[in-house]
Amino acid sequence: MALLAPSIMSTTSTYIQLDELQKTPTTFHHGLYTESISDFTNDTTSESEPPSPRSEVSRQRVLLLKGAREQYSLVNDHAIPSVLHQGEILVKVLAIGLNPIDWKGPAFNFGIPSLPWINGRDLAGLVLQVPKRSSRLKVGDVVLVPSTDYRDIRKAAFQEYAVATDFNAARIPASTSIHASASVGVAYVAAALALGVSFGLDFSLIKKVPGPNLPDIIKQLNTNDIPDDIREECFASFQDSEKLQQGEWVAIWGASTTTGLIALQLAKLAGLRVICVADAARHGTKLVQSGADLLVDRQDPDRAVEIIRGVTGGKLRYAIDIVGKDTATQLEKTLNPDGHAHLLGLTGLPKERNPGIQYHTVPIKLFHTAPGVGEAMVCWLEDLLHSTNLTLPEIVRAEGGLEGINSALETLRSGSVSGKRIVVDLASPSP
Ligand SMILES: NC(=O)c1ccc[n+]([C@@H]2O[C@H](COP(=O)([O-])OP(=O)(O)OC[C@H]3O[C@@H](n4cnc5c(N)ncnc54)[C@H](OP(=O)(O)O)[C@@H]3O)[C@@H](O)[C@H]2O)c1
Repeated sequence: MALLAPSIMSTTSTYIQLDELQKTPTTFHHGLYTESISDFTNDTTSESEPPSPRSEVSRQRVLLLKGAREQYSLVNDHAIPSVLHQGEILVKVLAIGLNPIDWKGPAFNFGIPSLPWINGRDLAGLVLQVPKRSSRLKVGDVVLVPSTDYRDIRKAAFQEYAVATDFNAARIPASTSIHASASVGVAYVAAALALGVSFGLDFSLIKKVPGPNLPDIIKQLNTNDIPDDIREECFASFQDSEKLQQGEWVAIWGASTTTGLIALQLAKLAGLRVICVADAARHGTKLVQSGADLLVDRQDPDRAVEIIRGVTGGKLRYAIDIVGKDTATQLEKTLNPDGHAHLLGLTGLPKERNPGIQYHTVPIKLFHTAPGVGEAMVCWLEDLLHSTNLTLPEIVRAEGGLEGINSALETLRSGSVSGKRIVVDLASPSP
């Protein structure tokens, strides 16, 4: 499959700034802001009833996955998803951030609840409808939504309109790029839950831009409200002696991934010392600028283990792998297996388990199943963006709208856009 032609991929310089849209709206964006909103804002709509758009706008274009190992197909007359539950919002999608799972799911046949299905995990868009009860959000806000609830097809990103819960949507400041914002959601959720829940790091101690103490929020939850398969992980760091504290080392293997870059920044804000394993020649500048305390090149994994063990005196207790089982197995060797070392694998863990190490997977669904956790996380993300304490990933913008996604995913899969996020633009008018 051919890579995207250069003419339809562009770099970060072309993304839309929200304040630009608002100051100098083009005819198209003027249309977007007025017509779209008035189509869906209906005073009589209640949360428990599906919305009834007042105009003929009730069908939309979506990208459907019709079979495993198939390309996505564009469908022109799919129903616009309905707001069904308390706290849900309707969003007009303006930009879609692509994640590796968007091609891995179909290619390896996982994470697809049924067929045909709509995929897509990261979006940014315009809020068209808000809950009747009080909400942080209002119609006309521009938000980013990490769509971790992939079992709910209404919330998928590969469509023109998506439903979200208000506690999973973060408002994008006017000075921040909508497209770059569309690229950060799932990476932020994974990084914050890994550090804050699995390792128990207290973000509320950060002076510059305090975040939530997630274990404290979890403590208030009814245990039965936490899904069975993540319950153990959610309580993993409840003993104070196991919690990751300011000043400690944490190693990140795969630090140049989007998730790694966000984890590095959150860890540095919290006062940790961070070891980054990555292609140092390619990504070293960015990692050092983001605060890496030690940069270890990934080309010789055994040497990388020796360096990390040497620098930490063999006492490392916390490590996150963001690449896969093999690198997680390497990373495991850097830890002190005295029973108090923690290894989190975002993509896989070693096959053999060492009884001296505690293993973790990120409890990603906590974000959409626990409103208190989701709300605290998106409020912190809003603060991080507003205070510019979080640098967003560099992006490559893919044109072509929903039709461009198959090709953009091939580019992502090929690895040729290393260290950048591909973001698909839906704000430009369809051809
Ligand atoms: N479990 C979850 O809920 C969850 C959530 C988020 C992400 N994930 C997973 O985490 C992984 C990363 O996701 P992402 O979106 O952050 O990725 P991404 O931004 O697409 O990551 C691409 C980067 O991976 C680096 N990389 C590739 N092979 C590597 C290796 N052997 N060692 C070190 N770095 C390597 C590449 O660097 P080079 O330039 O050096 O090749 C490239 O910069 C994916 O597998 C994703 O599915 C899981």
